[in-house]
Amino acid sequence: MDCLQDWPEPIVRVQSLSESGASTIPARYIKPPNDRPSPTAISNCHVSIPVIDMSADPEHVARVVSSACREWGFFQVVNHGVDPKLMRCARDTWCGFFHEPMEIKQQYANSPKTYEGYGSRLGTKKGASLDWGDYYFLHVHPPSLINQEKWPALPSSLRPTTDEYTQELLKLCRRLMRVLSKGLGLKEGRLQEAFGGDKDGACLRVNFYPKCPQPDLTLGLSPHSDPGGMTVLQVDDHVKGLQVRKDGAWVTVQPVPDSFIINIADQIEVLSNGAYKSVEHRVMVSSTAERLSMAFFYNPSSDIPLAPIPQLVMPDRPPLFLPMTFNEYRLYIRKNGPKGKSQVESLKIVPKAVHV
Ligand code: OGA
Ligand code: NI
Repeated sequence: MDCLQDWPEPIVRVQSLSESGASTIPARYIKPPNDRPSPTAISNCHVSIPVIDMSADPEHVARVVSSACREWGFFQVVNHGVDPKLMRCARDTWCGFFHEPMEIKQQYANSPKTYEGYGSRLGTKKGASLDWGDYYFLHVHPPSLINQEKWPALPSSLRPTTDEYTQELLKLCRRLMRVLSKGLGLKEGRLQEAFGGDKDGACLRVNFYPKCPQPDLTLGLSPHSDPGGMTVLQVDDHVKGLQVRKDGAWVTVQPVPDSFIINIADQIEVLSNGAYKSVEHRVMVSSTAERLSMAFFYNPSSDIPLAPIPQLVMPDRPPLFLPMTFNEYRLYIRKNGPKGKSQVESLKIVPKAVHV
């Protein structure tokens, strides 16, 4: 695919724009009025994504996870088994990277071919609207896909910490896969089997949202659903920014310290035949605080066609999606950038006309 060889225009680092001290943002970052963060967004404590204690009774955990995935597609987990010290070390070391001099970061500049490295846009459409954020994207699993050259050499703690973080998050994801399977009435290993068993994969995107002089006009990340299996997100305890779509409104997530935010992504929506929802989300930015988040994308093996699991297809619940491999699927977001749920919609089987 030629269109994925290189960026269509020179890359501008959002961090450089932010540090230039300008009081306005370039037109490319200004969203149409309806897409701007609305001041009426629900951000109080009355509505919020469920918080789930993973150390509770397993039957109870399976039930509450299942209803969170059906109603919200999102939940936060506490007592998840990952050491909060490791979580903090991972965040601190990546924060260290984003505060290295620009020349160092530029050595890792990415291209749309694999997206690995230091990036500032998603999608390769010339003239596209841009989001107020830089990121670093890496393949972290399986080991055969790891290219250490693409991992920053500095700070020196970055590689070992990222490695340990990956191992711990893989364990958490595989455990969640058993919980998710149970919640669908399947045997515990069923979703993992559909992912290719031990051929599962994972990528890490560390998002860095610099301070923005006009946060009301732009977004840190435009509405999208995640293309992979599920996402384990670590956000800043203090700086809010993530919003989740619920019944047409944007609900701001209130981060719980030391928790992870988990969301169902498109491939599990497909496997569950639409029972679990891969929900749109977006990120707001701030004029007073920068924000760093770490999104760990847990994915199926890239070359197996995924389709609704046969046990979840019934006469009154026909298959909703066409089969596709994850490799094919992710080309879409890599080319088009974040575009709401348009990608998973494109896999939907159009019901046959009913003649009466
Ligand atoms: C993502 C994402 C949310 C955030 O990286 O896909 O949705 O809070 N990030 O940065
Ligand atoms: Ni996302």
